[in-house]
Amino acid sequence: MTLRFVPLSELSSGQRAEAARILREALAHMPAAYNDPGEAEAEVAAFIDDEDREAIAALDGEAVLGWIGLIRTYDHAWELHPLVVDPRRQRGGVGTALTLALEARAAAAGVLTLYLGADDDYGGTSLFGRDLFPDVARKIGGIQSTARGHALSFYQKLGYEVVGLIPDANGAGRPDIFMAKRLTPPR
Ligand SMILES: CC(C)(COP(=O)(O)OP(=O)(O)OC[C@H]1O[C@@H](n2cnc3c(N)ncnc32)[C@H](O)[C@@H]1OP(=O)(O)O)[C@@H](O)C(=O)NCCC(=O)NCCS
Repeated sequence: MTLRFVPLSELSSGQRAEAARILREALAHMPAAYNDPGEAEAEVAAFIDDEDREAIAALDGEAVLGWIGLIRTYDHAWELHPLVVDPRRQRGGVGTALTLALEARAAAAGVLTLYLGADDDYGGTSLFGRDLFPDVARKIGGIQSTARGHALSFYQKLGYEVVGLIPDANGAGRPDIFMAKRLTPPR
């Protein structure tokens, strides 16, 4: 496999359709994810049309294996969203390579921090099903992935740490988990 990285905006219409399929299928385990007709296609289009967003696809030949997006939310901190790898091609290093490509893109633009929200609305972490109030911040230290698996471990391996929780973001006991990584040492 020889990976190449291409801006999402340069994909053919067939490859954009593949990017939408991958978004739908990679997140199929999450109840709230891109299940409505046209929702995944609209999300792909947003990363081509919206000037505050951009995305990078990983290709093997002409086949789309996955893609990663960024949203320019703050002057010095950007949001990583989304990151999806075709379920048939996961655990082959594609997600890592895409994340490193996005980090290089953000660092080159002078961004200091990349952050992301990793929802747990299906039981992928030890926080699922719990009432996180009060003392929400204290719960961060004990967070762990469950046997169902969660992107938490993937991002931790790449140097991201949990920086916050939004309790009940996806319904009672279904938090969003915020993670961040320093890209450039502060001056
Ligand atoms: C999370 C995801 C992007 C990772 O991409 P990938 O190409 O499968 O990951 P890599 O092969 O680069 O994985 C590198 C390491 O991360 C860890 N890892 C990857 N996926 C993991 C998972 N689902 N659970 C636990 N650890 C995981 C492993 O340690 C892995 O190394 P190993 O395979 O040698 O054990 C991919 O699994 C995916 O698309 N998942 C569904 C969508 C999703 O959850 N996106 C993130 C939303 S915030």
